[in-house]
Amino acid sequence: MGIVIAVISGKGGVGKTTATANLGLGIALNGKKCVVVDFDIGQRNLDMILGLENRVVYDMVQVMDGDANIKQALIKSKVSPNLYFLAASQTKDKSVLSSNKVEKLITDLKEKFDFVILDSPAGIESGFEHTIEFADAAIIVVNPEVSSIRDADRAIGILDSKSAKVKNGEEVLKWLIINRIVADMVESGEMLKSEDILDILDIKLIGKIPEDKGVIDASNQGKPVVLDKKSIAGQAYTRISGRLCGQKIDMQNVEISDSGLFKRIAGIFR
Ligand SMILES: Nc1ncnc2c1ncn2[C@@H]1O[C@H](COP(=O)(O)OP(=O)(O)O)[C@@H](O)[C@H]1O
Ligand SMILES: [Mg+2]
Repeated sequence: MGIVIAVISGKGGVGKTTATANLGLGIALNGKKCVVVDFDIGQRNLDMILGLENRVVYDMVQVMDGDANIKQALIKSKVSPNLYFLAASQTKDKSVLSSNKVEKLITDLKEKFDFVILDSPAGIESGFEHTIEFADAAIIVVNPEVSSIRDADRAIGILDSKSAKVKNGEEVLKWLIINRIVADMVESGEMLKSEDILDILDIKLIGKIPEDKGVIDASNQGKPVVLDKKSIAGQAYTRISGRLCGQKIDMQNVEISDSGLFKRIAGIFR
């Protein structure tokens, strides 16, 4: 039985879809079977980041409704044979999901894959609730800014009260990703420090990802940045994927800029 991880944030545009694609591929490159599912009904982004937009024929709602079977709808990654993708429906009707249908789909996927990663829509409405409903764990993505953290806090509140695991008296695991960190701005006090974010949210940190222009270029090319060994964000995704696969990988301090590091070293030798 695989683990189901919902990637959530509350606020839109913080990097959930990017994280889903990169962690899915990073986990697959670690030799684990992984499926990434786009729960953002009405919008499609995950297919583009994975470079699979032309391969979509059937989507997850058609599978839920019995119009296609899961094998027909699963799309294999062009990069790793361990990674599969299930597309979101393009319907404008966001109420197409129901708890029973979602549960059946997720149960099927859990039997086939080691990791089932669900990319949540923005907000905390019904699409979000269906994404967290049958999750064993959640990755909460935030940017180091107050509005993102406030919305993440709300999303965590809903996760802790409405997911099936919690209803059964169990706990949903929660892991935080702080995304788009600019070291210079943290040093100058313009950007929140990760310690402060952790104080507010009080959940376990699984990784920090620097701001990196390479992320946008990679996404536009349909080649997730985790494939780029030189990219600092790609390296961060590789580390987080390793941690999710159970490896012990030290947390890197991406909040020190090159000049800040130089000053610290200079301070030691003064
Ligand atoms: N670490 C990063 N550095 C630079 N840009 C990023 C980073 N992470 C995400 N982005 C960009 O931010 C935008 C929103 O990301 P996306 O994953 O679509 O967010 P969400 O799914 O939460 O709405 C995209 O243009 C993406 O390329
Ligand atoms: Mg998204």
